[in-house]
Amino acid sequence: MPNAYISGTGMYVPDEVVTNDDLRTKYGIDTTHEWVVQRTGIAERRFAPDGTAPSDLAVPATKQALERAGLKAHDLDMILFATLSPDMHFPGSGVFLQRKLGLLDGDSPRFVPAMDIRNQCSGFLYGLATAASMVQSGGCKHVLVVGAECHSAALDLTTRGRTVSSLFGDAAGVAIVSATDEDRGVRGWWLGADGRHAEALCMRIWDMSKRPFVPLDHGKEGPGTIQPEILWPYMEGKVVFKNAVERMCQSIMQACWEKGIELGDVDLFAFHQANMRINQYVANTMGIPESKLLHNIERLGNTTAATIPTLLAEAEETGKLKRGMKVMMVAFGAGFTWGAALVDW
Ligand SMILES: CC(C)(COP(=O)(O)OP(=O)(O)OC[C@H]1O[C@@H](n2cnc3c(N)ncnc32)[C@H](O)[C@@H]1OP(=O)(O)O)[C@@H](O)C(=O)NCCC(=O)NCCS
Repeated sequence: MPNAYISGTGMYVPDEVVTNDDLRTKYGIDTTHEWVVQRTGIAERRFAPDGTAPSDLAVPATKQALERAGLKAHDLDMILFATLSPDMHFPGSGVFLQRKLGLLDGDSPRFVPAMDIRNQCSGFLYGLATAASMVQSGGCKHVLVVGAECHSAALDLTTRGRTVSSLFGDAAGVAIVSATDEDRGVRGWWLGADGRHAEALCMRIWDMSKRPFVPLDHGKEGPGTIQPEILWPYMEGKVVFKNAVERMCQSIMQACWEKGIELGDVDLFAFHQANMRINQYVANTMGIPESKLLHNIERLGNTTAATIPTLLAEAEETGKLKRGMKVMMVAFGAGFTWGAALVDW
C-alpha cells in the first residue's frame, strides 16, 4: 500500500483588502476595529470582485501547488472541491475547476472524477481524508484537494448582519495528495459530526421546509419576496464557540492517543481559522506553545474550507514548514462537523 503525502500546496487571495474600518466607512456597518479584533483577532479580510467564483480563485492556487509538486494539471487523477459558497447550486465547483485548469483541452482530455465536499469549515480535512484513502488504496496517484470560498457574495453587509459578516473573507487554498513509497505522509485522520446542532450555524437558502422559496404574489406583477434570513448565514456564536473548543481539544487528544505520540512531538499545528480566541483557548488548554501555531486569520478572516490549506501554503512559502516535520491539522464547523489529521511532511 503506498503512502499518501502532500506533494504541493498553493493559495490565492483576491486583491481587495477590507479592513474593519472599511466595514464601517464603506458598508455603513455600526462596528469598530476594536470590537472585531478583541472578539475575533481579525483585522482585515479579502473580498473578490463581483462575478468571481471560488473555482476562479482555485485556478492560481492550483497552478502554484502543481509547480511546487513538479506536476502538470494533466497528472491529476481526481479533484475534491470543498466549499460552502459554490459557483452555483449545482453542478459542483469541481467540474468548473476541471475545465478552467485545461484538463479537457487538447487531444487527450482528462475526464477525471470531480467531487464537491459540503462540510464547510472541516471540508478540507474531510477532503484530505478522502484523498489519502484514494491514494492509499491505489485508485489514484495524485488527488487535488481544494478549499475555496467567495463568502463576500452572500454576507449581510449591514448592521443587522454584523456579527457574522465581520468574520468571513474570500480565499482559495489547495493541496495535492500523491502516492509515495517513502516513509512519510498522512498518518491518520479523525472525523466526526453531530447533527443535533445542524441549525446552529447554517444558511437556509434552498431549505426544502421553506417552499415556495420565492412566494409569488399571485395575480400581481413582480417576482415576490425572499425573507432575508434565508439568504444569509445564521450563527449561534456562543454555542459554536463552546462546541468548537470541546471538539478541537477532543480531536487533538484522540489523534495523539491513537498514534501513541505526545503533544510535544508535533512540530506545527494548523488549526481552522474561525476565531483567534477559540484557537488561543484550545492552545492554552492543551499547553501548545504559540510558536507552534500557524495563523492567518488576522489578515484573511475566516475563509472556511480554505483556512488550513492557505496556512500550509504560507508556511511552505516562508520555510516554516519543512520536510520531516510532524503537522497536526484540526478543524470544527457547521453541522457540527470536525476533524483532525496527522501528517509527517
Ligand atoms: C461571533 C462572536 C465573536 C460574537 O461574540 P459574542 O461575545 O458572542 O457577541 P454577541 O453575539 O453576544 O453580541 C454581543 C453584542 O455585540 C454586538 N455585535 C455583534 N457583532 C458586532 C460587530 N461586528 N461590531 C460591533 N458590535 C457587534 C451584538 O449586536 C451584541 O449587541 P447587544 O448586546 O447590544 O445585542 C463569538 O460568538 C464567536 O466567535 N463565536 C464563534 C464563531 C465562529 O467561530 N464562527 C465560525 C464557525 S466555524
